[in-house]
Parts: sequence; structure tokens; C-alpha cells
Amino acid sequence: MFITFEGIEGSGKSTQIGLLAQALEARGRELLLTREPGGSELGNTLRPILLSMKSRDLTSRAELFLYLADRAQHAATVIRPALAAGRVVLCDRYADSTTVYQGSGRGLDLAALEQLNAMAVDGLWPERTILLDLDPAEGLARARDRNRRQGATDAEGRFEAENLAFHTRVRQGYLALAARHSERFVIVDATAPRETVAHIIWEAVAPGCAS
Ligand code: TYD
Repeated sequence: MFITFEGIEGSGKSTQIGLLAQALEARGRELLLTREPGGSELGNTLRPILLSMKSRDLTSRAELFLYLADRAQHAATVIRPALAAGRVVLCDRYADSTTVYQGSGRGLDLAALEQLNAMAVDGLWPERTILLDLDPAEGLARARDRNRRQGATDAEGRFEAENLAFHTRVRQGYLALAARHSERFVIVDATAPRETVAHIIWEAVAPGCAS
């Protein structure tokens, strides 16, 4: 089963991926935990380029094609083989991130992005997408706390430095996408206690993960 996690910064994706991974492993399921950007050898080269402040002058279009290159390689060489080997794949961000960050956030054409994503994933869409939804003001405050705890300055996260209006568009983009693809999206209130969030996610994925 292929499960993706989406949400704005500070929505708690990593925590929830970790909790779901524990629950699945306790039931003897073989897992692949992966993420975008990153996840493949090419992706690990692209990730620092995409995320560092040095890439600030990347144009939206150049950025788009780097995310798509990352995804095409990741889907074909990492995710597909893991699924073929019977693993449950938990992926932190996937094609929906491009639709909302490059589309709703940066303003690139949504219909074009849909086609480009389709080309990149080549038919490999998740069975479930967990959208951890929360108010961007709260998400950014959480992400800033995390950066400070890890000793990074606010300026170090390129996307975290984007303004509230950008993240508000991203959140709205996610909600619109979830409404259009209600067959695979599960929207979870990310402000609920983490055990509650974990329980809702478990209920959403457990039927598909029974071995
Ligand atoms: P990351 O450090 O993984 O942060 P997060 O904890 O929020 O997942 O950063 C990934 C960033 O890349 C995130 O801000 C969203 C952005 N992104 C895009 O803009 N488009 C994409 O297609 C993907 C996969 C990520």
C-alpha cells in the first residue's frame, strides 16, 4: 500500500509518519519510509539545492522541474520496486506538494502541473493521502520553534521564510485538492492531540494494510 503525507510546515507530518511506522512494524509489516524532495540518489543531490537559501534566485519554473525530476526518479526507482516487493510505503510529500506549492503558492498553471505530475509519476498514485490540516499562523509558529530548538535561524528554511499569505494559499490549495480527490484524501485536524491524530490516521489506513 502506498500512503502519502501532506501538509504545511509545522503540521506534524514527521511525528505522525513515525507513529504510523511504529504501529505497522508492531504488526509485522515491512515498510519503506521515504520523502520528497529526496528519497533517491538523485533526490539526495537535488534536496539541498532545492531547500537551501542559496537557491533563492531559482525561478519558479526551474524549481518546478527539479521537483519533477526528483519525483520521476523516486517513483520509478524507489517507490515502485518497494511496492512490488510487498512493502507499505510511507512518503513524506509527493505530487500534491507540487500542485499546491508551485501552483496555488507560486501561481504556476494548475492544469499544466496536473499533466506534468502525471508524466512524472507515470501512473503511480497513492491509495491514501493524509492531509494534516492547520492554520498557517500556527504551523509557522511551530516550525519556528522547531528551527530554534535545532539551532537554525528563521532565515535557514527557505519555505519557512515565505510569508503567511503564501502559506494560506497553500493550505487552501490542499483543501481544494482534497475535495477533488476525496477517494484518496483524508483530512485530519492537526491541532488535535497527537494520539488522536495518530488514531484517525490508523483507522484510515489499517484496512488497506492488513497482511
Ligand atoms: P522539508 O524540509 O522536507 O519540510 P517539511 O517538513 O515541510 O516537509 O521541505 C520540503 C519543502 O519543499 C516544503 O517547504 C515544500 C517544498 N516542496 C515543494 O515546493 N514542491 C514539491 O513538489 C515538494 C515535494 C516539496
